[in-house]
Amino acid sequence: MLTDKFGRHINYLRLAVVDRCNLRCTYCMPENGLSWIKQNELMTDEEMLRLCSIFTELGVNKIRITGGEPFVRKNVIDLIGKISRLDGLNDLSITTNGLLTEQYIPKLKEFGIQSINLSLDTLNEERFFTITRRKSFDKVMKTLDRLLQYEIKVKINTVVMEGQNIEDIIPLVKLTRDLPADVRFIEEMPFNGNNTQASLKWNYSQIYHHIKNHFPDMEKISDPKGSTSYNYKIPGFAGDVGIIAAYTRSFCGDCNRVRITPSGVLRNCLYEDGGINLKDEIRTGKNNEELKNIIINSIHKKPKDGWEAEKLNLTPASLHQSMATIGG
Ligand code: GTP
Ligand code: 5AD
Ligand code: SF4
Repeated sequence: MLTDKFGRHINYLRLAVVDRCNLRCTYCMPENGLSWIKQNELMTDEEMLRLCSIFTELGVNKIRITGGEPFVRKNVIDLIGKISRLDGLNDLSITTNGLLTEQYIPKLKEFGIQSINLSLDTLNEERFFTITRRKSFDKVMKTLDRLLQYEIKVKINTVVMEGQNIEDIIPLVKLTRDLPADVRFIEEMPFNGNNTQASLKWNYSQIYHHIKNHFPDMEKISDPKGSTSYNYKIPGFAGDVGIIAAYTRSFCGDCNRVRITPSGVLRNCLYEDGGINLKDEIRTGKNNEELKNIIINSIHKKPKDGWEAEKLNLTPASLHQSMATIGG
């Protein structure tokens, strides 16, 4: 079992399989001037599978494959199939923008994928274009339909942004009246190219009161351990509502996760930009036992919370080149 120095058990690995993205969400990356990881810096499928296998041997039982859109990576469906067959794994999930996912849904169902978190910041086609800089709204909606048709659990992730999608909050909540999908509203996190916000207007509390004013019956429900979202139920609604305090970082005390970037960097925290490069360790010929020790030692240094992690950063002006590189 992987445990950090605060006694937190790490059973959840987020594997970002690709740094590129087929959207250009304004809160995530600029339109131009991006530099992608070179091919030989990206982990191979074999390296990814080997690391997943090592982590499951160390007690990880939940793996989330993240993008952008994970299916931007060539043949990722085969890699997902192999990961799904690892011993000890009881939850394999995906976070995606949904652009290329639809055609793979039957296969994902076959692999036993239990849940898919789908990024969708608006229900309005024009606003979708303004936010993502791409005309792909229909594709995401088709993916949503098909996921529900295949009875795969869906959580919609919506980043809340002043002046951009505030008018979408209530329609998105209403969508869950009949659709058996949850919607989770996320505090916007500053990132490198977008670091100007002095304070966050649409924080957890503001989002909560906005929804509660429209749905006074909304009540708190219990949150699974390690949950990023504070969860609520509106009586009679098929789906639940969640709020993710991603910027406030109030859930770090129960953190159960680590991340691996597409180039193999082990990140103990979303807000930490250092970390050991496990791919480099593999390529210098380390065996699995050696890799396990490196991982155990690294996780022991996991910071207390996202605030402390940020202070430890090696480069100034983190949060990162883009969220796509670390998979959110
Ligand atoms: P579940 O496994 O369904 O609970 O999903 P999740 O919330 O772990 O994953 P998802 O990829 O859907 O992430 C939703 C949002 O939460 C994204 O905006 C992430 O950036 C944010 N998030 C996920 N993990 C962390 C974390 O460790 N710290 C912070 N601050 N935000 C996080
Ligand atoms: N703030 C909050 N959430 C973000 N995501 C990407 N960039 C940001 C940001 N700056 C979210 C995406 C997706 C998840 C993986 O990360 O919307 O749901
Ligand atoms: Fe948008 Fe996610 Fe792609 Fe970033 S990684 S541009 S948030 S879809």
